[in-house]
Amino acid sequence: MCGIVGYIGPKDCVPILLEGLARVEYRGYDSTGIAIVSSGTIKVHKKKGKLREMEATLPKRLFAKIGIGHTRWATHGEPSDANAHPHLDTSGHLALIHNGIIENATELRASLEAQGIVFRSETDTEVLVHLLSLAEPGDLEDRLRAVLALVVGTYGIAVIDANQPDRIVVARNGSPVIIGIGDKEMFVASDVSAIVRHTQQVIHLEDGEMAVVQAGGYRTMAVDPSAGGVVSDPSARMITINWSVGALDKGPYAHFLQKEIHEQPAAVERALRGRIDDRHATAHLGGVTLSAREVLDIRRIKVLGCGSAYYAGMLGAGMLESMTRIPSDAESASEFRYRNPVIERDVLYIAVSQSGETIDTLMAVQEVKRKGGRVLGIVNVVGSTIARECDGIYLHAGPEVSVASTKVFTSTAVAFALLGLYLGRIRDLGPADGKRIIEGLKALPGKLEEALATEEQMAQIAKKYAHTSSMFYIGRGLGYPIALEGAQKLKEVSYVHAEAYQASELKHGPIALVSPDFPTVVVLPDDHLAEKNISSIQQVRARKGPVIAVVQKAITEGLADDLVLVPKSEPELDPIILNLPLQLLAYHAALELGRDVDQPRNLAKSVTVE
Ligand code: F6R
Repeated sequence: MCGIVGYIGPKDCVPILLEGLARVEYRGYDSTGIAIVSSGTIKVHKKKGKLREMEATLPKRLFAKIGIGHTRWATHGEPSDANAHPHLDTSGHLALIHNGIIENATELRASLEAQGIVFRSETDTEVLVHLLSLAEPGDLEDRLRAVLALVVGTYGIAVIDANQPDRIVVARNGSPVIIGIGDKEMFVASDVSAIVRHTQQVIHLEDGEMAVVQAGGYRTMAVDPSAGGVVSDPSARMITINWSVGALDKGPYAHFLQKEIHEQPAAVERALRGRIDDRHATAHLGGVTLSAREVLDIRRIKVLGCGSAYYAGMLGAGMLESMTRIPSDAESASEFRYRNPVIERDVLYIAVSQSGETIDTLMAVQEVKRKGGRVLGIVNVVGSTIARECDGIYLHAGPEVSVASTKVFTSTAVAFALLGLYLGRIRDLGPADGKRIIEGLKALPGKLEEALATEEQMAQIAKKYAHTSSMFYIGRGLGYPIALEGAQKLKEVSYVHAEAYQASELKHGPIALVSPDFPTVVVLPDDHLAEKNISSIQQVRARKGPVIAVVQKAITEGLADDLVLVPKSEPELDPIILNLPLQLLAYHAALELGRDVDQPRNLAKSVTVE
């Protein structure tokens, strides 16, 4: 989704803005732009397309000590040069960038047009900058506050004024804004990736908060003080981002997707670090503040998330149910939030989100909390909105740059295993089973490494099937969320249509599609359902459908056209291992088809709009 970056300080802001925009490219965008104040005037350069296309239009000598930059993901108006941000007021003194959606933009636009304002774009954002130019004279922050009183919608905003070039003013309502603190220089961004090279000290603005950011410091205030919008002391909210410098580079890999697939063993080690209690065969989870008594009172668990986070949640719900014997299920947060859900006090809600900013998941969390429910978060990005809304578990997977989620799916499953261990050991999981799962978790990084060794084989399989128009992914039990995730990965990065089914459901209809050019990927854990899965394979083979079986134990020769063998772990953890060849299949299919692997078309990394 859209990205914001801004700089004020003694250095030339142009390379800082361009580098910051490159760092948020991964979120998905269709145009870019920057605005700087140079020799007392605002200069804007913006263009549809990739960042490098805008960069190519920049004059050689461009220097400024204050500027803002934006990557836009079109919502109001198609991707075009005119619709790209920043937007200027008529006089050209004000430049503004915005993430989010202004819901009353149509009415505001009509009233501005009636006052003679000529719009240059179709965006909702442009209304903000014209309103600002018409606001009562005063400091930029006072004028912005007056404008925001007229606005309904969500926003992360950064604005500069050529007449007050000592400040960037930012405001937040539902769309992230971060202030980065440097030495006599300050940064603003929507995502820490944009500024983490320059400073690791950041503050997340709260909803309803705005800030004046100057080279020497910042001050925050409520957007609407009259509504009792008191803002907490921001310095108490300062956090340190401890990403390694290489975390944002591809290193020896061709793409971030490939790098992140290979980072999984290390990500699992980080997720486990300091969290295993061998003595009591349980887990220590600092962010989970449920007392043993409260755990005993849980009657059901409901996991919420979107996309791959939902599938990871589905896997997690299955793991929790088997480890704790508490009935558990998962639901897509995007549906849950709109169906006026019944919230019960003895249900534990768990929100899963890599970015911690997905609007549907955030709204689901707020709905549960508003109705008195208890929510834990399983989140990757430290300090993100969902992380701040709930207690919970940080994944410590490091930044996930590729739009398609891979390592975070795996780390989420590991977090569920730890949570299952903690809750289960208070409930029905005996110490021997606790130990068994702990040993399984400790051995997991090595087993994932072995599963990654299937890469060459998966590349060959991808070559064989990438040009097919459609594929099935089937699995049962905990293998089903893996089939869903495998199909999702293939669709996202290769654009090959793939559909996931419970293997048991195949014969109830979808098997009609099976034919010699309709391959089926079978997720086949070595468990009590293995024989049943094998009969599904036989049904597909009987209709001459090619079969790719990802297995943990060799099956009858000739039963599958391609047999991919991965190591066995504990039944609760096996799905995590079976997922890796499917990630590699999607990656290599995308390569084979020449797709934009890290930034697939139409997708955004963190979906902060409805
Ligand atoms: C798929 C993918 C998306 C996200 C979903 C939720 O590869 O990345 O389906 O999983 O948009 O995002 P988060 O986890 O940031 O809430």
